[in-house]
Amino acid sequence: MSEPSPAAGSRRSAWWLLLGVVVVAAGWWWWSRQQEAPLVEVTLPRQLSPLAQRGKAVFEAQCASCHGATAGGSDRGPPLVHPIYRPAHHADFAFATAIRFGVRQHHWYFGDMPPRPEVADDDIPAVIAYLRELQRANGVR
Ligand code: HEC
Repeated sequence: MSEPSPAAGSRRSAWWLLLGVVVVAAGWWWWSRQQEAPLVEVTLPRQLSPLAQRGKAVFEAQCASCHGATAGGSDRGPPLVHPIYRPAHHADFAFATAIRFGVRQHHWYFGDMPPRPEVADDDIPAVIAYLRELQRANGVR
């Protein structure tokens, strides 16, 4: 058996160094993603439309446990009053789909959102109207 050549040794330490860099980078990425779910201080609009008023009751019963009492987020779900969910980025259709079919975890680290069959079809536009009015009152447009 021959001794490992010095070149093989330094190649091996280069691999360990690379592995270290990858582990540190992955750790930093994970840590920085963990910080990303903000709790938003939501300002309530002075007045809600009648449709949004109806949606508010549904939201409080079916959504607030995860998305917070006024959609500012909680430790179980993201704030919906957030630029990510502005109409141009998540249209009303995406909101309706979330309620009907749930959401696979993709933006955050709360896990999946289960479908909400408790919300009647004709209450969906009301919930969306409420969320859009909250967004507008908080500069998310
Ligand atoms: C059990 C907790 C839970 C409940 C209850 C819940 N959600 Fe969610 N919701 C989540 C989580 C978690 C996400 C984020 C998933 C991700 O992007 O990682 C989410 C995401 C969303 C999104 C973004 C959809 C997308 O396309 O990214 C919308 C809109 C939404 N929820 C609306 C609602 C509405 C409206 C209700 C009430 C009818 C509701 N949610 C009830 C947990 C919940």
